[in-house]
Amino acid sequence: RGGPVIAVDGPAAAGKGTLARRLAEALGLPYLDTGLLYRAVGRLALDAGRDPADPAQDIAQTLSPDALRRPDLRATEVAEAASKVAAQPLVRAALVETQRRFARESGAVLDGRDIGTVIFPDADLKLFITASPATRALRRFLQMGGDTTAPEAAQKLQEMEEALRARDAADAGRETAPLCIASDACVIETDTLDAASVLAEALRLARARL
Ligand code: C5P
Repeated sequence: RGGPVIAVDGPAAAGKGTLARRLAEALGLPYLDTGLLYRAVGRLALDAGRDPADPAQDIAQTLSPDALRRPDLRATEVAEAASKVAAQPLVRAALVETQRRFARESGAVLDGRDIGTVIFPDADLKLFITASPATRALRRFLQMGGDTTAPEAAQKLQEMEEALRARDAADAGRETAPLCIASDACVIETDTLDAASVLAEALRLARARL
């Protein structure tokens, strides 16, 4: 490989994306958000009026780079569809090569669920980023422009936390490439850390290992 591969895995809304993007920038490596691949497949399945639980490998096999640039991949319904297509072994198989190829030339930082366990079991550094469901729900709420002083805030937060827990349970419980901590991963709990501190910790680990 032309450079180091850094795997950043963890549950939904733990801060993986923010960390992976900043880490890639700091180290001068390309960055791939692998969740976008599954989101794009889920989005196209919904667009075609299909149940995302139905076989979707045809979509994964013909996924174009343009499909990853769509602005509407962040919606909750798309995340849920992504989780359903991501449980299909044939969908995952269709996306493996794209992810490996991405890092071939100059290494990369990739974030997802199975980067350190399946896609790059020999990654130079594996980070598992996590936080409590309540913390993650609050972050996602604020990210979406939510106001914690609004009368419906508590109810909304509760709903978001339940949705995150349900998606994590599906991702951790599936048979193929479930969300789990690689035996050689460094776990970073981000409940009491801001993004700058998470980056500092990741850079410390990177400097010690790369
Ligand atoms: O990370 P993000 O929330 O964008 O991922 C959406 C969904 O895609 C996840 O809930 C998971 O089911 C799936 N995913 C996956 N493997 C990855 C990245 C995402 O199964 N490497």
